[in-house]
Amino acid sequence: MTAAKNFKIKGLDRIRFGVEKLEDALRFADDWGLIQIESDHDNSHLFVTIDNSQVEIFQADPSNPACTPIGSPSGMCEMVWGVEDQASLDAIATELGRDREVIIDADGTVHSQDDLGIRIAFRIAQRSYVPFPDTQFNSPSQPKRVNSRAPRYKKAQPYEISHLAIGVDHAGEAVKFYLERLGFLVSDRYADRGVFIRCSAEGNHHHLFFMNGKAPGTRFNHLAFKVRDIHEVIFGGQHIDSQGWTTFAGPGRHRVSSACFWYFLSPFGGAWEYAADEDIVTEDWESTDFAAEAHIFTEWTFGLEKSDGTLRGPISQSKAQALED
Ligand SMILES: [Fe+2]
Repeated sequence: MTAAKNFKIKGLDRIRFGVEKLEDALRFADDWGLIQIESDHDNSHLFVTIDNSQVEIFQADPSNPACTPIGSPSGMCEMVWGVEDQASLDAIATELGRDREVIIDADGTVHSQDDLGIRIAFRIAQRSYVPFPDTQFNSPSQPKRVNSRAPRYKKAQPYEISHLAIGVDHAGEAVKFYLERLGFLVSDRYADRGVFIRCSAEGNHHHLFFMNGKAPGTRFNHLAFKVRDIHEVIFGGQHIDSQGWTTFAGPGRHRVSSACFWYFLSPFGGAWEYAADEDIVTEDWESTDFAAEAHIFTEWTFGLEKSDGTLRGPISQSKAQALED
């Protein structure tokens, strides 16, 4: 199989999380700005973004494989991809059925596993575009927002799930299944230590990011939600901070994908990220290998460094050092 295969995968439709501390997780999701709706499964809680990207939350249960997070007590149990039509769904089931178990449940969702044993599923996409006013910015001599104040947000209301990041032992190996079997494309990479891949030629810079983790094994690292603009990143992050949650990194701007971000430690076994103004790409995007750049996590940030100490020292110093090299 090659990248020419087109299963018309549109993006992440639902992430299923099993957690140790259910009440904390539900409070976090609410503070994050997700909207809780009625769940379609027993004993689980379903939250949505504006475009109906979904997060399902339930009590982790090590006795039930479907409710057992991969690699940690709290974390992701399954990623569900949205596809455009039934023909694509059927084609994916056939492709995966060549060498692994495929289960099609009552509502037609196709369940299987990738080569690392991560649970993956596919269904007709339930996300849909919801129009909203485009944020306008005033540049010198080129004003776009006239006689109107800039947007303010009490808290964020994420528009969509943007991407998922997973820590693994060998990122370059982990992506092969998605590239070779599902037709994903590489957008950028840090050699084979971190690989950003997307499920469709046009659209998001990446939907999945596999990185070599600090600790051995496979585990959820973070989930990113796209918000409308940088104002919503900041207002949303301030609200989360005010509710007692802890910043993991940010606010700042990524070097890769250009997104403005703010990450928080979450009860989901990893971080959740607000992101705005990410690169949008087409088949003409030229992927870059950033392996030679030492400080690639951020283009800039305020003061720091990830709260777990994996990136040390003020970014301004790191950046200056990098520029001197
Ligand atoms: Fe991210």
